[in-house]
Amino acid sequence: MVSSTKTLFGVAALATTVLGHGYVIDPPARKPGPAMAAACGQQMFNNQNSDIYGNIQGELQVARNQADFDASKCNVWQCKGFQLADSPAQNVQSFRPGQVVPMTVEIRAPHEGTANVSIVSTASNTVIGSGPLISWDVYASNAAPIPADQTKFDVTIPEDIGGQCAQPGDCVLQWYWDARSIDQTYEACVDFVVGGGGGGGDGQAPAPSSPPPVASPTAPLPTSSASPTASSATSSAAPTPTAAPQDPVGGGSGSGDGSVPESFTLDTFIAWLRTKAGGNNARRHARQLM
Ligand SMILES: *[C@@H]1O[C@H](CO)[C@@H](O)[C@H](O)[C@H]1NC(C)=O
Repeated sequence: MVSSTKTLFGVAALATTVLGHGYVIDPPARKPGPAMAAACGQQMFNNQNSDIYGNIQGELQVARNQADFDASKCNVWQCKGFQLADSPAQNVQSFRPGQVVPMTVEIRAPHEGTANVSIVSTASNTVIGSGPLISWDVYASNAAPIPADQTKFDVTIPEDIGGQCAQPGDCVLQWYWDARSIDQTYEACVDFVVGGGGGGGDGQAPAPSSPPPVASPTAPLPTSSASPTASSATSSAAPTPTAAPQDPVGGGSGSGDGSVPESFTLDTFIAWLRTKAGGNNARRHARQLM
């Protein structure tokens, strides 16, 4: 009995290690819900709903068992397939140009990789601006305790963001962690709008009026060979996002279901509460905005 108990504990500990990972817990990021299930399939939904900290490659393994998996509908490389329609309206943040936004990431198990936070246009699945708002060349290394500024840091909304993120779903604040050596990629998306100049509407974000548009299938984000720290980050192709397509998201047919499952667990809530206690300065890359 004892040995089998030990074995069980061993397996549980191992599973915890292997299945560790991370997610953005503040501001609130997208969660799996009915719209995600409609877009990506029930099994992939179950996979993420039971462990939101998991990686995209894990989702794609699940997808292999889904005969009806439609990669273009799921668009898993954008926000892990999570959909705006599954977010309560109050989760859509309302930012001002130039606003400093504190973020908190929970890393449940480290794997050394690279990471960044960018503003991504969902329609084109491209990064808005000249690069990420913050980035790390070495992130969540197993070799040492994770530096505090990798899990609590600030990003600054660009001053020149214009009207590109006016409507919920136009843009996401995307945290992206890529552990290349083990082929595990983690994402979390914070929905937000940037107000077009009305100074008064800071408190409440507009309610999502339509499902987010779908980008071209599985197009990975453009890789920039230039280090994001380089001040001369001349973007050769300044992204000019096209207007959001009029047709609603393919998988959005099920998004009319208003029930939004609450997947915020007690321990993530506690972790979130803790994060309210204070902040550390992150190594932030200054961006030159024009
Ligand atoms: C963010 O990091 C990933 C992985 O290192 C990289 O492929 C991507 O290009 C980066 N994003 C930006 C906007 O630099």
